[in-house]
Amino acid sequence: MDAASRGRVRRSVAADGAAQTAARPATAKGGNSIIFVEQSCTAPSDKRGGPQVSRAADGLGENGAPGRPGPHPPRAMNIYQTQLRSDEIDALAHREMVGGLWDEIGQLQFDFMRARGLLPGDRLLDVGCGALRGGVHFVRYLDPGRYCGLDLNASLIEAGKRELAAAGLDGRGASLLVDDAFDVSRFGCRFEWALAVSVFTHLPMNQIVRCLAEVKKVLAPGGRLFASYFEAPASAHLAPLRHPPADIVTRYDADPYHQSADELAALAHFAGMTMERIGAWNHPRGQRMLAFAAG
Ligand SMILES: C[S@@+](CC[C@H](N)C(=O)[O-])C[C@H]1O[C@@H](n2cnc3c(N)ncnc32)[C@H](O)[C@@H]1O
Repeated sequence: MDAASRGRVRRSVAADGAAQTAARPATAKGGNSIIFVEQSCTAPSDKRGGPQVSRAADGLGENGAPGRPGPHPPRAMNIYQTQLRSDEIDALAHREMVGGLWDEIGQLQFDFMRARGLLPGDRLLDVGCGALRGGVHFVRYLDPGRYCGLDLNASLIEAGKRELAAAGLDGRGASLLVDDAFDVSRFGCRFEWALAVSVFTHLPMNQIVRCLAEVKKVLAPGGRLFASYFEAPASAHLAPLRHPPADIVTRYDADPYHQSADELAALAHFAGMTMERIGAWNHPRGQRMLAFAAG
């Protein structure tokens, strides 16, 4: 990032827990605005034809017809409500905003999913995909049109589009959606796999339930969601926790969050899902992994 950009961003607690850059306060596209969907599973478009623009802001559906009830206050309560400017994206500020370790954690999530059995013909839903730190790897590997990513932050999605273009992958039919309600049904298809890396670490428990309940609707039979989290040793662990090896400090009720496996199993139950604790998966900041299935 250049000096001018550095002067405009502020330091913040990272997503992965590390010190991160965050942009100025949001200037646009907050709340429930759907910014664009590049290509939907139900209505594939010519990838060279540019993004489709979908309007569902302020509770209005397409053409201003009544849609989702609203307006409502933004649901998110984390640093990701701030938007990066175009020049900040050019300076790769988005890589820091999603937690840094761009190559390492991108490769880690790809290797993890490959080891779990992800195949090129499968459909993958990347929940809280950010700027496609993992997405670039998945889009390269999967058959065209098989990768769908959702995030609440429009500027990170824009950064992800630029990352795809820089990697020569902008013609691979990735579907990218901006939405703050985890409304993954809008992709219009079902997924064998779903992934949420460093997302629950930023969510209060009610938003985790929302995320699980929405993802459950779009999992194919036998499909699973893998989600990383900072693990607390017991439920209602109200004191701050320090996680080796990077000494990230998490809290019970502030971002970055920690939860116990039992708490997350209970949330899964509330959402009509089952949960399996996978545990360590070589995350450099000590996040653990869970698998959720409908049931
Ligand atoms: C630490 S970043 C991780 C991004 C990506 N999974 C990765 O590994 O690079 C956390 C992401 O979760 C997204 N996020 C946070 N709260 C969200 C919400 N309520 N709905 C959708 N995305 C959310 C943020 O915008 C951000 O992109």
